[in-house]
Amino acid sequence: MSRGDLLRDVRVAPSILSADFARLGEQVAEVLAAGARVIHVDVMDGHFVPPITIGPLVVAALREQVEQVGGLLDVHLMIERPERHVDDFVKAGAHSVTFHAEATPHVAYTASLVRESGASVGVAINPATPVGALAEVAGVIDLALCMTVNPGWGGQPFIEHSLEKVERLRNILGDGAALQVDGGIDPRTAPPCRAAGANLLVAGSAVFGSPDPAGAYRAIAEAAGAL
Ligand code: DX5
Ligand code: ZN
Repeated sequence: MSRGDLLRDVRVAPSILSADFARLGEQVAEVLAAGARVIHVDVMDGHFVPPITIGPLVVAALREQVEQVGGLLDVHLMIERPERHVDDFVKAGAHSVTFHAEATPHVAYTASLVRESGASVGVAINPATPVGALAEVAGVIDLALCMTVNPGWGGQPFIEHSLEKVERLRNILGDGAALQVDGGIDPRTAPPCRAAGANLLVAGSAVFGSPDPAGAYRAIAEAAGAL
């Protein structure tokens, strides 16, 4: 299966934001062994969102391990002016790059930069951003990310009225692009997200906050009917 096909599958994508960074490789190995193939990497710059997290060095550190099993590094940029950093992340090993529509006045241009770099193109929207923000680029992106919490932190409660928004976003996208949800995903919230039209379910604290990340991953994947 090609990496592009992985994005079109029904998949749970563990977010390493909630992992133990002192043993990151081990934690990623656990979820890969449990069947995860899309590893979600949350990049925060202290400007677009208050926290500062990780950069291209961590992407590069995980690349070989994820590529060995045919998986992909799904990089979620919560940074201002993402167009300035696309190249660094793709060179480090990002297979898909998702940036926020709110973070640049040049969404179409940034999407074209990601496309030219060879990575899959994702655009994310915050809870208060209308789905129409993606209407004009729906035909040129591989993935739309509907935030189901405010970006910046793991462990927040799922915003329940996101479900209706996910449905509207799926209508705009048609079947042509992946639809990802991110924030508050667990075995309870994953099934309604699937039913609303999401096929990629990011889960951070529900996976790595557990003493058994592999078991926690499988529980969400089973609930969602994912692989
Ligand atoms: C939040 C990040 C998420 C985060 C989700 O800004 O984009 O990917 O890891 O964490 P949980 O699953 O704990 O809500
Ligand atoms: Zn994320």
